[in-house]
Amino acid sequence: MPKKVKIKKGVKKPRAVVKKQKKIKAAGSQKARVFQTLRGMKDLLPGEYKYWHFVKNQAENFSNNYGYEFIETPILEETALFNRAVGGETDIVSKEMFSFVDQGGEHICLRPEVTASIARAYIQHGMLNLPQPVKFFYSGPIFRRERPQAGRLRSFHQFGFEALGDGNAVIDAEIIFLTYNLIQSLGLKTNVQINSIGCPKCRESYKNKLVNYYRDRRSSLCEDCKKRLVKNPLRMLDCKEGGCEPLKEGAPQIVDYLCDECKNHFVRVLEYLDDAAVPYNLNPYLVRGLDYYTKTVFEFFPEENQSAGQKVEALGAGGRYDNLVETLGGRPTPACGVALGVERLITKIKETNVEVPPLTPPDIFLAQLGEQARKKSFALIEDLRRAGFYITHGLTKEGLKKQLEIANKLGARYALLLGQKEVLDGTIIIRDMEGGSQEIADFVKIVQEMKKKLTNGIAK
Ligand code: HAM
Repeated sequence: MPKKVKIKKGVKKPRAVVKKQKKIKAAGSQKARVFQTLRGMKDLLPGEYKYWHFVKNQAENFSNNYGYEFIETPILEETALFNRAVGGETDIVSKEMFSFVDQGGEHICLRPEVTASIARAYIQHGMLNLPQPVKFFYSGPIFRRERPQAGRLRSFHQFGFEALGDGNAVIDAEIIFLTYNLIQSLGLKTNVQINSIGCPKCRESYKNKLVNYYRDRRSSLCEDCKKRLVKNPLRMLDCKEGGCEPLKEGAPQIVDYLCDECKNHFVRVLEYLDDAAVPYNLNPYLVRGLDYYTKTVFEFFPEENQSAGQKVEALGAGGRYDNLVETLGGRPTPACGVALGVERLITKIKETNVEVPPLTPPDIFLAQLGEQARKKSFALIEDLRRAGFYITHGLTKEGLKKQLEIANKLGARYALLLGQKEVLDGTIIIRDMEGGSQEIADFVKIVQEMKKKLTNGIAK
């Protein structure tokens, strides 16, 4: 019980007392609150699952075909990992991380991307001793506290491919080719935009030229770009603000400042893409929002025309990051990778009406009528499951008609009907849900009967 607060009549109550009394009153009258997902976060409902299944299945098939091995890293990591890898001045680290101090006083965060974790795992588990490159495939949730809008969630999912331990341009080309083929296999058309942002050496002289160019036009820059001018000048090329965007047209372009090694690398990547007939657009303004990139960077956009003013969000993006492993304390290890946004792919799949295969329907639906039949059904369902069938039932339902309606909705291949009469006769009815024909079978032989109908217990 809260302590009673006594106030003399005629005396104005102090503000703290009024506040406390209001709080107590509110607590007393509080109804159970209806909770919602956090802003920018979504539930994945069963009706959506066929899209997820389709996308993830395709991604996993590609990882097998191209030899990328599955890896899973924790969703929580040390905050300093991303600070060091992605960069303290980037939007992702400076504004968007869900970071906190845990009960043990450790500074940790929900991962805002996976590449840094992959590099951490590569070092932590001594994978430089394995045959190189080591190729990884991952899939899982990512968290960024962005301003929620179409295509931008605070909790979303990525899958990605990373190859560590090889600096050859053919790796960049393979990753781009793989991603291009994967997006196509989802029934989507995509356009690859590509650029090279060089290595720290050649980038430095380019940065100076860029800063000089923008410094002369400082008064037109937005507040963020005024800061970027000092802290992260390349990102100015990416700014969509009215005053900043037109300026990029006249800005110096990095390809003109690449050192011989970076230039040759870029040319070789493009040659491989030409040979593989992967269509791409050179985009001199593509700089990416993470600091670890070197040389090749690329983004995949949906190809179809957008309505005017609609912002086009990338379906996937990546690039080479030759210095990341070393930045995180490992030995020099060139690397390249890509990550794709599952929600964005699914939105496009729905928008373009791609026909997605349905989830596997049940092989058998067991419908019953009467208490005795229900009891016999309960045991039979387990026998059928053990035999390898995907089986659902209407054990909590009463009418046969209702149960058959459910079987139909679920797309079950066969229904088994067990009523009072069948229990007495020792039989069971098999109903072909496609044609509607029915036959009577011996109850004790039903598992074998169904095996004959459904090859090896797999619904066809
Ligand atoms: P990223 O460009 O930050 O790169 O994200 C990759 C993809 O994740 C985007 O192209 C997009 O499809 C999806 N994505 C990003 N933010 C959101 C959001 N707020 N809501 C929904 N989807 C989003 C990286 O994360 C790098 N780690 C990629 C990489 C891998 N680079 C080398 N290896």
